[in-house]
Amino acid sequence: MTDVKDWQDAGERLGAAELRELQLERLRATLHRVYERVPHYRAAFDKAGVRPDDCASLADLARFPFTTKADLRENYPFGMFAVEKSEVRRLHASSGTTGLPTVVGYTEADLSMWSDMVARAIRAAGGRPGHTIHVAYGYGLFTGGLGAHYGAERLGCTVVPASGGMTARQVRLIVDLRPEIIMVTPSYMLTLLDEFERQNIDPRTTSLKVGIFGAEPWTQEMRREIEERAGIDAVDIYGLSEVVGPGVAQECVETKDGLHIWEDHFYPEVVDPVTGEVLPDGEHGELVFTSLTKEAMPVIRYRTRDLTRLLPGTARPAFRRMEKVTGRSDDMVILRGVNLFPTQVEEIVLRTPGVAPHFQLRLTREGRMDALTIRAEARPDATPTDRDAAARAIAAGMKDGVGVTVDVEVVDPETLERSVGKIKRIVDLRGK
Ligand code: DLL
Repeated sequence: MTDVKDWQDAGERLGAAELRELQLERLRATLHRVYERVPHYRAAFDKAGVRPDDCASLADLARFPFTTKADLRENYPFGMFAVEKSEVRRLHASSGTTGLPTVVGYTEADLSMWSDMVARAIRAAGGRPGHTIHVAYGYGLFTGGLGAHYGAERLGCTVVPASGGMTARQVRLIVDLRPEIIMVTPSYMLTLLDEFERQNIDPRTTSLKVGIFGAEPWTQEMRREIEERAGIDAVDIYGLSEVVGPGVAQECVETKDGLHIWEDHFYPEVVDPVTGEVLPDGEHGELVFTSLTKEAMPVIRYRTRDLTRLLPGTARPAFRRMEKVTGRSDDMVILRGVNLFPTQVEEIVLRTPGVAPHFQLRLTREGRMDALTIRAEARPDATPTDRDAAARAIAAGMKDGVGVTVDVEVVDPETLERSVGKIKRIVDLRGK
């Protein structure tokens, strides 16, 4: 294989000082653009007493107000756009993991930049021109399918636009069309692996070499399980529709040590989720993004609610890494005083025989006490005895590992509600 360096584009090869200079130039242009063109930003900047010209250094960005999902919702559908409607080539809407959908728009230049960033991500994952890529992210308003699709084409790959669902057919397509790469949510990858096994096909014998998994949090344990069962390298891709879609950050296959943020287009900050104060690199907090080149819908200091921390670059030294997302500042569950993330439950469910890693947390209130029921899907071959044992093991794991007493229900396979391939992790029935 050619030296990986040959495959880096000009942005990836920037020196630290050059990158900072480029970021500042682009940031100032973006601040001017939104102040002049988007009434929401003009009002928000005025209220905070800042003008675009007040941004003389990257650190000055901290003086500007945050943008939240609520701001996008209040300006639904097109109020946050900075271009004429006639310049918008595509609309997407967020998956609605929390609350109402938000609409995002792209000019031709935005779509091109997005394709470049996904192409860069696929290359960092080990993809090369000529590879075949099976895209099983959902196509449609969700950014996963089309985002992956155009990035793969931009890189010079052959795309199989499988989209989500029809699991038996996905297996057939993978066997027959021999893709080297699959792009899919990690939870749906596990469903595909179950289907391979159901059809008595060893997934380790397929043509697949790399899986690019994202759109939902997943753990190192899940990486190990997928890599072992599928015989592939499993790497993480991150993004969100409000910023662009998939391809904001990507884990490099040679290091698998967190995701390099494509900082020449998306400027990251990590802030204290409660006070909003900017935290130094290395400290855990909420990830905030400012787009540096977007035309149709630039975002200034967009609160992602995703929890992580920034680390120095490794395989792509120009760019900082973000650690795997550990949870969201808004899905942390506080159960009788104990902070709990769905990823902690995932780790326990994953090591429990008899259940699939598909689970849901149901919060209820009994009297004044919050109660948590974990619903996990049984594996197709689990007997009633296996299910009982699994329920007991998960309850014990929660007690020992997290320190909370929970109820566990092992339900039939494929019965938990899914939206664009993602399971709704938390169902909060308290106060209802
Ligand atoms: O999920 C975009 C995407 C598609 C990313 C395909 C990767 C692959 P939304 O539907 O707007 O966009 O959801 C964005 O999903 O704020 C995170 O909470 C979560 N998320 C996305 N990627 C990851 C990841 C797409 N790799 C929200 N790890 C984000 C953890 C992720 N969470």
